[in-house]
Amino acid sequence: MAECLSATAEATEKAGAAIREGRLVAFPTETVYGLGADATNDAAVASIFEAKGRPRFNPLIVHVASVQAAEEHVVFNADAETLARAFWPGGLTLVLPRRADTPLSLLVSAGLDTVAIRVPAHETAKALLDAAKRPIAAPSANPSGRVSPTTAAHVVEGLGDAPQLAYVLDGGACPLGLESTVIGFPEGIPTLLRPGAVAREEIERVLGKRLADANAASGEAGRASPGQLESHYAPGSALRLDADTVEADEVLLAFGPRAPDAETSMNLSPSGDLKEAAANLFAMLRALDAKAGGRRIAVMPIPDEGLGEAINDRLKRAAAPRG
Ligand code: TXA
Ligand code: MG
Repeated sequence: MAECLSATAEATEKAGAAIREGRLVAFPTETVYGLGADATNDAAVASIFEAKGRPRFNPLIVHVASVQAAEEHVVFNADAETLARAFWPGGLTLVLPRRADTPLSLLVSAGLDTVAIRVPAHETAKALLDAAKRPIAAPSANPSGRVSPTTAAHVVEGLGDAPQLAYVLDGGACPLGLESTVIGFPEGIPTLLRPGAVAREEIERVLGKRLADANAASGEAGRASPGQLESHYAPGSALRLDADTVEADEVLLAFGPRAPDAETSMNLSPSGDLKEAAANLFAMLRALDAKAGGRRIAVMPIPDEGLGEAINDRLKRAAAPRG
């Protein structure tokens, strides 16, 4: 049973030592809670897959303390440098070619010649990186295929019994609540591999050009983000999207001021604010799932702009037929 510790300086030191010993630590980032391991230790990285019950090896995001630290592991191009300067530390992940001399485990790349890397902004994540003195590989800290955790309690609920997990560092609720945006550069073209915490429009403004879409790009780009292809982020209940009304056998996930009446409902943002909705999405999906008791979750339409693109991406995955 993992120990849940309030993220004090002392607890963070203990957790950093556990990472160096090859054990797992769940920790808060500004996006979601991560399940972290020493990214240079093959066995430790393998135990992430074991703890999550992942059906196969997906490539993982490596977290580092600074741009300089990232440069030890991957080769930047000019657009990637621009994006790192603008958005790090923060909720943006860059997929870049591995350096030949990086000590990173090959397992973090899952057979690809690239590494997904980011510099997190959350104080606890930064303190853990300092304490561990290692790059930290971390997927979201949930069992495979389930909704990402945005509180320490969510982590304990899903992975508390995983023997590989030494500590859960409790740093409160994640402020952004959605996973990082993942940008890759297939054939040198900046491409949105996963919509997330940083909106496409913000990235395009900084780059001064449009992002290509992974789905519209070649099969290569599609395969380059394997986590993107399946039903994912799934709650136990069925979902019905773009719902303007609520049926008798449904609970409601509402958005905005004009929510229909429902016996059981939660509102992502009564004022229609997409940032607030992103922060509430996973926690409210969990809470409604727990209350649904076999009823379907009807979800009101969310505008597909700004953070709405990432919210709609997660909702579509949650609603997709289960494989
Ligand atoms: O916000 C986040 O990104 C959180 C926190 C903990 O940092 N992490 C996270 O990791 O969401 P995970 O493993 O649940 O999602 C990683 C995503 C997947 O869509 C995966 O396919 C993609 O990043 N990815 C990782 N490495 C890649 C690579 N080398 N090439 C292409 N896509 C990659
Ligand atoms: Mg995940």
